Amino acid sequence: MPSEPPDPPERRKAVHRPVLLDEVVEWLAPREGSTLVDGTAGAGGHTSALARRVGETGRVIGFDRDPAMLELARAATEGLPVDLVHAPYSEMREGLAGLGIAAGTVDGVVLDLGLSSDQLAWRDRGFSFGSDGPLDMRFDPTSGLPTAAELLAEMSAEDLANAIYEYGEERFSRRIARRIVETRDARPLETTGQLAELVRRCIPGKLRHGPIDPATRVFQALRILVNDELGHLDKILAELPGILAPGGRAAIISFHSLEDRRVKWAFRNDDRWTVLTRKPVTATAEETAVNPRARSAKLRVAERWSNQEPIPTPTSPRP
Ligand SMILES: C[S@@+](CC[C@H](N)C(=O)[O-])C[C@H]1O[C@@H](n2cnc3c(N)ncnc32)[C@H](O)[C@@H]1O
Repeated sequence: MPSEPPDPPERRKAVHRPVLLDEVVEWLAPREGSTLVDGTAGAGGHTSALARRVGETGRVIGFDRDPAMLELARAATEGLPVDLVHAPYSEMREGLAGLGIAAGTVDGVVLDLGLSSDQLAWRDRGFSFGSDGPLDMRFDPTSGLPTAAELLAEMSAEDLANAIYEYGEERFSRRIARRIVETRDARPLETTGQLAELVRRCIPGKLRHGPIDPATRVFQALRILVNDELGHLDKILAELPGILAPGGRAAIISFHSLEDRRVKWAFRNDDRWTVLTRKPVTATAEETAVNPRARSAKLRVAERWSNQEPIPTPTSPRP
């Protein structure tokens, strides 16, 4: 365990750079008076860019599960027409109703899935194997949900292997799950460093030293499991058409194929949507040069079907 204590929240300054920011703004085409929702407010990058464009009669509602991220969003959106809500985006309909915004009246929704660079950098949150910290991984540490350490202590080898395979697409999942169970019988797995080292030792030598740390996939799997990320995504994908006004748009940025597949499928297989991005929009070389995280970002946009003239769309979405 690190000898230094984690940074207290009040000293935390945002390091996260919003991904595909210009593209999201262009596609959602905010106008004076628009009501927009950012389901993943994070450090407030997309929220504030949208809020600067809706004028005094418009508003942006930002949701996040993480109270520490909402603090950063609050600082970034000071003086702007923004309401911040501590709730998962899967409870968007209820959260909006609480603010007097009826279902079917929202002009645009953005979701920028996954975790922010800030959460990754805070070692007390346990998302990163780059520094040693407690194996927590909950987006909302106030939720009372089990931490990653608690799941690793309780789950059967079979369930662990299935989760690591399904959510991490890790082919050595069985071996890793078996090693987790053997190790925890001797001493509990409590830190990110312990888990990362265990995973690396399960991967054959010649595959261990590739460009991607073998622990990456297992950490992704555990994070998805701890936060039921795909459950939240499936729920909002089913509810979004009912939340948006006719002609309203959803812009969803995903970072791995498990998410992107769901978004693509939901947009294509519900006739209340018109898909606006046949292929996902990706970051430019300029953006990935300054923000490597943007490299795996895929933006898909769809419009809630309406029989009215569509508002103008960007003419040349990036391939
Ligand atoms: C990639 S960051 C968003 C960054 C943000 N767009 C910005 O520009 O700063 C993702 C955020 O979504 C939040 N999050 C993840 N799952 C969520 C969910 N189901 N509901 C609400 N927020 C969620 C995380 O806590 C994190 O702050």
